[in-house]
Parts: sequence; C-alpha cells; structure tokens
Amino acid sequence: QHIGLIFGGNSSEHDVSKRSAHNIFDAMDKDKYQVSLFLMTKSGYILGNKDSARVFNGEPEDEVAKEALDRLDQKNPLAPIINLSEVANIDVFFPIIHGNLGEDGTIQGLLRLLQKPYVGTGVLGSAMSFDKDITKKILQLAGVTTTRYEVVTPMTSEQFTYQQLSDELGETLFVKPANQGSSVGIHKVENEEDYREGIRDAFRYDSKVLVEEAIEGPEELEISVLGNHHPIVSKVGAIKVPKSDAFYTYDNKFVDASHVEFDVPVDIPASLSEEITKMGLATYQALGLKGMARIDYLVSQDGKPYVSEVNTLPGFTNISLYPQLFAASGISYTELIDRLIQLAIE
Ligand code: DAL
Ligand code: MG
Repeated sequence: QHIGLIFGGNSSEHDVSKRSAHNIFDAMDKDKYQVSLFLMTKSGYILGNKDSARVFNGEPEDEVAKEALDRLDQKNPLAPIINLSEVANIDVFFPIIHGNLGEDGTIQGLLRLLQKPYVGTGVLGSAMSFDKDITKKILQLAGVTTTRYEVVTPMTSEQFTYQQLSDELGETLFVKPANQGSSVGIHKVENEEDYREGIRDAFRYDSKVLVEEAIEGPEELEISVLGNHHPIVSKVGAIKVPKSDAFYTYDNKFVDASHVEFDVPVDIPASLSEEITKMGLATYQALGLKGMARIDYLVSQDGKPYVSEVNTLPGFTNISLYPQLFAASGISYTELIDRLIQLAIE
C-alpha cells in the first residue's frame, strides 16, 4: 500500500508534528508500505514528496517551500495542495498534523472530498474533540465527569471578573483557548490581574476561551485508545511534573522534558484504572472517535478522575505517551502504525 504521511501544518504545533512524523515514518514496515511525504508548510501549502523529503532530511523549510512555489506557473497558487497528481496514487493518508487544520476536522474534510481513506477520526468527531468547550458539553451529556468551567468570548468578556469566576469555580483557575493543543496559551491564574492577562493572551489563539476550575495537586493520567467500533484501551500512564512548574506546559512537553517523569504503566488501584478505562470508552463513543485517541485525566487527591481533554491525533514524539502506553500493553510501534492504517480502510 502507498501511504501519504502529511505533517507540519500552520499551527503552533508545526515542530511537534515533524517529530511525530519522523517516528511514524521510522516505525512503518517498509516491506509492506511505500511512503510519500507531504509537508504542510507554515503558510499552509502542502508540498509534494520530493520537496517534503528534502525538509524531512534537514534542509531549511522556508527555502525549500519558496523554491517549490517559485517553480509553479501561477503567481498565487491555490492552497493547499500544489501537486494534486501525487495525491492520486495514495491508498491511505496518515495526517499527523497536530492542532489547527490537522486535528480540528479541516484536513479530514479535504481528504473526504478527495475520496481518500485516512487514519483517525472523521470531520465531526475531530472538530468536537478539538474544541474543549464542545468536548465538555458532550461529555456532560454522556455522564462523563469533567472539570467545571465558564466560556468567555470577546462578546461576554466584560461580564466576567476574576472575583465572580473564583466564587463559582475556586481560587485557582485555568484560562485556556478552546481550540488549541500542546498547552499553548494556557494560564494558571489566582488574581484579577493575571486573569486579565491570561484572557488577553488566550484570545490570541482563539476567540473562545475556557475558564476552568483547578483540581488541587492532581495526578495527571493518560490512556491510549485504538480501534473503530470495538476499541481497545492501553494501560494507564502518569506524568509527573515538578511542583515548581505550574502544570504540564508546552515547554516541559516539547522544549525540555528532562525534569518531567513518566510512569508507564502507573501503579494505581485496579478500581481507578477500571473507572478510567470506562470513562475513556464512554468518551470515545460519545464523541464518535475512530482509529485512535489519547485521553487525558486529572485525578483529585481523594481519587476522583476527571477527563481533561481528548487528543484525536496525539503526539508520537519520543516522549509522547500514546505509543509508549501501547508498547507497555504489548503492541509494538510498528504494529501500532500497521493497525492504525488498516483501521482507516476497515
Ligand atoms: N497535542 C499534542 C501533540 C499531544 O496531545 O500529544
Ligand atoms: Mg491536546
């Protein structure tokens, strides 16, 4: 089969996606799969295999992208695909673009229009899962516990003060853009001034912002799910962020992860792991997920789990838990990629 690996993208997770793509590429069984690379540049153009491979192998992306666009006849080629003929040969796409345009249903819509199967969740499930507000609303309807929150938009931001929100949700609040991955634009706030600043910054990423209750001294747990109609769930993993860090931030995820510890799998009571698995499957079902998802939880000090978010195209970087959790559950990286591709055409 001929696989089209789409990576990069124009979101703040561009570099994370490149790391994920390298690991997926390396893990693919090359006797079974022929791989073409499709780099989505930061400006949103999808380059063909030859140019994408140059960037994949270390050439400066900006130069390669400029050359590729200069070679075209048109002055302003229509984004996103500048080499449609290459798409025709692909049997299955693996769009490992995190964040905007990748995880929010957009690229899934494009691939659907192109009538090409692709790895992962479809348009609606992706769009719902990428929006933290919609995700929580669906989870509440499905009876899955999630943290309490309010939505702040430019239209309503004047109506909210830190005082009001903290009366409702507690002294410590998290301010998060509704549509954003890798903890970009998230702020932990404990007073009016930091709250205002947090909202201002979060609005840079999305015009819808969540203000969420904080779970005190939480344990951060994650599970990986794989499958379509009868998904399997991995063992549970834990992330231990040093107390001095406010939370699991972009920097300690992807810039310097040396002081973050991972427990894969984590030793927790069987009843908690069963509850987490049950909530994970209910989440998968409620959001109409397909192929894969990593579901993240916060567990309060008295042992109560909350689903904090759903990642339909989770990281595959060296420190990412999605593949590690399946490795710990007996599914190797190569087998995992193989199953994901087969699930796309099932
Ligand atoms: N959004 C990043 C890639 C993750 O969830 O792993
Ligand atoms: Mg995420």
